[in-house]
Amino acid sequence: MVIRKISKASGTIKVPGDKSISHRAVILGALAGGSTEITGFLQGADCLSTIDCFRNMGIDIDVNGENVTVHGNGLNGLKAPEQMLYTGNSGTTTRLLCGILSGQTFDSSITGDASIQKRPMKRVTEPLSLMGAKIKNDYCPLYIQGSSLHGINYTMPVASAQVKTAIILASLYADGETVIHEIEKSRDHTELMLSAMGADIHTDGLDIHIKKTGLLEPVNVDVPGDISSAAFFMVLGLIMPNSKITVTNVGVNPTRTGIIDVLHDMGANIKLENLRSSAGESVADITVSSSALHGTTISGDIIPRLIDELPIIAVAAVFADGQTVIKDAEELKVKETNRIRAVVDELSKCGVDITETDDGMIINGGKNIHGADFKTYGDHRMAMSLTVLAQLANGECTLDDSDCACVSYPSFFEDFYKLGN
Ligand code: S3P
Repeated sequence: MVIRKISKASGTIKVPGDKSISHRAVILGALAGGSTEITGFLQGADCLSTIDCFRNMGIDIDVNGENVTVHGNGLNGLKAPEQMLYTGNSGTTTRLLCGILSGQTFDSSITGDASIQKRPMKRVTEPLSLMGAKIKNDYCPLYIQGSSLHGINYTMPVASAQVKTAIILASLYADGETVIHEIEKSRDHTELMLSAMGADIHTDGLDIHIKKTGLLEPVNVDVPGDISSAAFFMVLGLIMPNSKITVTNVGVNPTRTGIIDVLHDMGANIKLENLRSSAGESVADITVSSSALHGTTISGDIIPRLIDELPIIAVAAVFADGQTVIKDAEELKVKETNRIRAVVDELSKCGVDITETDDGMIINGGKNIHGADFKTYGDHRMAMSLTVLAQLANGECTLDDSDCACVSYPSFFEDFYKLGN
């Protein structure tokens, strides 16, 4: 596909629902003792994979666009799936399911697409095994024998909300208390939602304490817009001349707002307005306008707060004066693709001065870029980041695959060109 260029981007946009919260609303809704109404559900391929998996375990789920009703059957109400559960491209579905399936009275198996089959699962199978889980393989397909579980005291070697949540979900079935110690704070949507549902869970700094739960009360979930999707429009509005974009109703949970901090730091004109709270999650409207950006260093405990935004932050760095250094981001190597390698290879193609490092990249920004034929590696966030990058290239840019955007943002290109003129 040729990436069509816009000359400025202005207006107001509402991005689709948060991917992490949409997954959790279906998963926890399925385990609740009653029905959960979800509004603003993300109809992206990943979240639809989660729905499919739970339907295959006997949960009735009505989908009507962004409105979804999950008819929960209680913590012990899942049925043995008749076939291998298929999670598509979704790491969140795969890892969170491992936590739940480990504590069931039936056996199950999970696999996903080619990318999922390469993503490390040992980070979940290891702690779950310590709880008594029996899981064969460290990569998909995984074979899970339902077992009785017990609580553990576990220090996580990586900052990962997927790993944390897998352990929390297993703890709902485990005898005794589980204490999880995070090395850095990762997104806490699971903890917030479970608390609202009456689970015995509390957080104390980087420690999470959780005990077996008899009943999860259903709570309706109004999913805010995904800051990871809003990020593409935030950067677009900052780098395009004469632009001003407002993204309304964006989730700004502090465990997710690293991108706002970094863009501020880079000199961005970015404003949060109408800050409010919805079911424990903070929500705001975000307005950005064209700004002269400068380089920065991104490292340490901010990384989990912006991990999915690093490809688009790299794009912002291309148009920032001076050097941007991204460190401590090895986790990027095990995302939908190796996002350090993919970003460096693709940005180099159009003349960006960018160097790959062991745990990130160094970008010397503020130089002109030219057209290129980009590859997405089937990664939704690469497709959207490269589309933003292409806007300021001198010459034509193409994308080998635009369909992969549907994983988290099916209407991305439509929304993008509506803002452009
Ligand atoms: C997610 C956690 C993050 C993130 C992913 C969604 C979640 O992964 O990259 O897109 O919903 O828990 P890790 O937990 O592996 O960092």
